[in-house]
Amino acid sequence: MKWWQNAVIYQIYPRSFQDSNGDGIGDIQGIISRLDYLEELGVDAIWLSPVYQSPNDDNGYDISDYQAIHPEYGTMEDMDELIEEAKKRSIRIVMDLVVNHTSDEHNWFVEAKKGKENPYRDYYVWRNSVDGKEPNNLGSTFGGSAWELDETSGQYYLHLFSKKQPDLNWENEQMRSDIYEMMNYWLDKGIGGFRMDVIDLIGKKPDEEITADGPKLHDYLKELHDNTLKGRDVMTVGETWSATPETAKLYSHPDRNELSMVFQFEHMMLDEQPGKTKWDLKALDLQEWKEVLTKWQVELKDDGWNSLFLNNHDTPRAVSRFGNDTEFREKSAKCLAIVSHMMKGTPYIFQGEEIGMTNRKVKSIDEVDDIESINMYTERLEEGYSEEELLHVINVKGRDNARTPVQWSAEEQAGFTEGTPWLPVQPNYKEINIEAALKNTESVFYTYQRLIELRKNNPIMVWGDFELLMADHPSLFVYKRSYEGETWLVCANISEEPERLLLNELSLKSEMIISNAKRTTVTSDGLVLSPYEAFVVKL
Ligand code: GLC
Ligand code: CA
Repeated sequence: MKWWQNAVIYQIYPRSFQDSNGDGIGDIQGIISRLDYLEELGVDAIWLSPVYQSPNDDNGYDISDYQAIHPEYGTMEDMDELIEEAKKRSIRIVMDLVVNHTSDEHNWFVEAKKGKENPYRDYYVWRNSVDGKEPNNLGSTFGGSAWELDETSGQYYLHLFSKKQPDLNWENEQMRSDIYEMMNYWLDKGIGGFRMDVIDLIGKKPDEEITADGPKLHDYLKELHDNTLKGRDVMTVGETWSATPETAKLYSHPDRNELSMVFQFEHMMLDEQPGKTKWDLKALDLQEWKEVLTKWQVELKDDGWNSLFLNNHDTPRAVSRFGNDTEFREKSAKCLAIVSHMMKGTPYIFQGEEIGMTNRKVKSIDEVDDIESINMYTERLEEGYSEEELLHVINVKGRDNARTPVQWSAEEQAGFTEGTPWLPVQPNYKEINIEAALKNTESVFYTYQRLIELRKNNPIMVWGDFELLMADHPSLFVYKRSYEGETWLVCANISEEPERLLLNELSLKSEMIISNAKRTTVTSDGLVLSPYEAFVVKL
């Protein structure tokens, strides 16, 4: 068994985690000061969103120096201290690896822009204009064309994200080798591995308008593995929006030596209109959600590895999106935690999720920081959408929802900073905060703590087969895990109404493993699950 197979990962978005020096921006010393808390929660590793040198056009996902720490986060000494202090608590640090693109302020790009003869020119993707226009119709995820004109040379460069994030050209061997060298620098420091940002895009074929899943993607990943990861006890997780169960096996089959696991989003895209964008909302259909989650459980049974998550720094808060963040906030947060952690794969907890932090509401675009939301707003306003509907979708789907400061206490600024936070804290911090959660044995926190502990002590959670029951039920999510003669049954009511559950498998002899409703026994002749009730029994 590999260490990451029964591990639980905690994602830190450093800007919003903990400020240590009053400038309103979370930093590495802030993280160090909270390691004891993470140890108490029980997590095995931290996925650290980027802390590298960056002009912050996309909050650090635009890196201008991979081997320097952004001064607002601290120094390389702070980083070494973090790795060491985390290690003392058996927590590994997984670095964010953003190598589909760099910042336009990265030295490679600064050089590349100097002209066609520059040795770094080919580190990026340049094309001539076609009929005086962009080379083709490729669009950027953040709106507009993916091509930007470079006045000096008259050529366009490719940027699948903002124009300050030029795409690297993975066809250039020297560039790849520089990346491997940089990765080895970090690996030699003793980090726990890498989370690989939009890694499914590195094999792109821009002339054919192919971005995800390009023909040489897996060759690159194999080469990357051989030059960096080989022989090291680290984990790698690929952010792969385009993954299907078939391609997930290519990334993560243990015999293929590419990545440890995928981080795929199929269950995270069902509340948007098919073929449109994340901003085109559609009500989530629980049957469809269960079907997709089940497909991944079953398909990756033996030949691959998946991540389990319901939110991250790019998505709304899980409780606001899949649960109920008012009347049933705590109960639904626990329910979602149980449903997700009881599946097969490696669970990820996004900072604040463990206390049921909620989405943020804005009343004006001036309150929005996220580049993706702002660009969409500007574009759609021109297309004739109303301000009101655009603010509504930003409140539902915008990335700032997850990025408000972690709510540590009921003190001013939620204990996040002694200054003014870069993004305002949520007004609900007086009620929802970590200090209060730790004091209350019934809080969401202790459900997460228990789930992590259960995973450590029960191989069935890690290895058990998965079987969905009552697939057609519109609000009950019921599944079985079985392993070496043992069977657990997970039952959850993902709705605001009580639901009757009749299952022959249940009996008074079933042993309660965890419940979010203080239930101690179950019966086969019918029981009523209260709104968002969830429990797990051993049959
Ligand atoms: C990934 C990151 C996201 C970033 C984008 C471009 O999707 O998670 O935050 O904006 O890549 O790097
Ligand atoms: Ca700071």
